[in-house]
Amino acid sequence: MLHLENVRKSYREPNGDDLPILDIESFSLAAGEQVVLRGRSGCGKTTLLNSIAGLTTVDAGSIAIKGTDIVKLPEVVRDRFRARFIGFVFQTFNLLPAFTAIENVLLGMSFTGQRPDVARGEKLLHSVGLGHRLTHKPAALSVGEQQRVAVARALANKPALLLADEPTANVDPAHQQQVIDLLREACDREEIAMLLVTHSSEVAEQFPRVEYLEKINRAVGLAVAH
Ligand SMILES: Nc1ncnc2c1ncn2[C@@H]1O[C@H](COP(=O)(O)OP(=O)(O)OP(=O)(O)O)[C@@H](O)[C@H]1O
Ligand SMILES: [Mg+2]
Repeated sequence: MLHLENVRKSYREPNGDDLPILDIESFSLAAGEQVVLRGRSGCGKTTLLNSIAGLTTVDAGSIAIKGTDIVKLPEVVRDRFRARFIGFVFQTFNLLPAFTAIENVLLGMSFTGQRPDVARGEKLLHSVGLGHRLTHKPAALSVGEQQRVAVARALANKPALLLADEPTANVDPAHQQQVIDLLREACDREEIAMLLVTHSSEVAEQFPRVEYLEKINRAVGLAVAH
């Protein structure tokens, strides 16, 4: 359901030089497949997730999601495609400060033009242990609680592809397991493919497939030790 081919992405350095970040010949996920992405800090994990979501444009290559090459889509169409098919847990959450926990979750649904499913939103927040914080705004939530709202929001739409960037980096061990269980159960039940970035071996070992970005990304080379 996801297939990357010859994807290249560089950033421009202040002196005008190109700084290659991604150079991936081929990478795929099957429908409903759950994959962990690991790699050292700075090797391009967030850049890769942002590229797959179409939040960052790549310099070359194709990124096909459900048969649509999102690289070729005009921006407006790509935004609509993302709202419909992709759930994203941002490393830094990106919750909207003016909205409560439940409103942040429901907002994700409204972007697709559907009527927000309040019962589903509340159930998702309950399942990450936030049933007692539905009407708190992000500033009144702990950092770990904000991260759990971001996880609930990413699942709100029943996406076809979930991209989760270190979704348990800020939660304690008990909630870490709760978040992973929610993600895996929702993905199993709803046939959502998931690409999850983590630095945690404890999280990674629960997944059937673990990829090291250094091994598939020629821009970082193969010599990096783990
Ligand atoms: N806008 C930008 N301009 C220039 N360089 C950038 C930009 N964004 C990211 N980079 C560089 O690209 C590299 C990859 O960044 P990225 O955020 O993808 O790493 P990461 O693997 O997610 O790291 P972490 O595990 O710390 O989150 C980093 O070395 C970073 O400095
Ligand atoms: Mg990152």
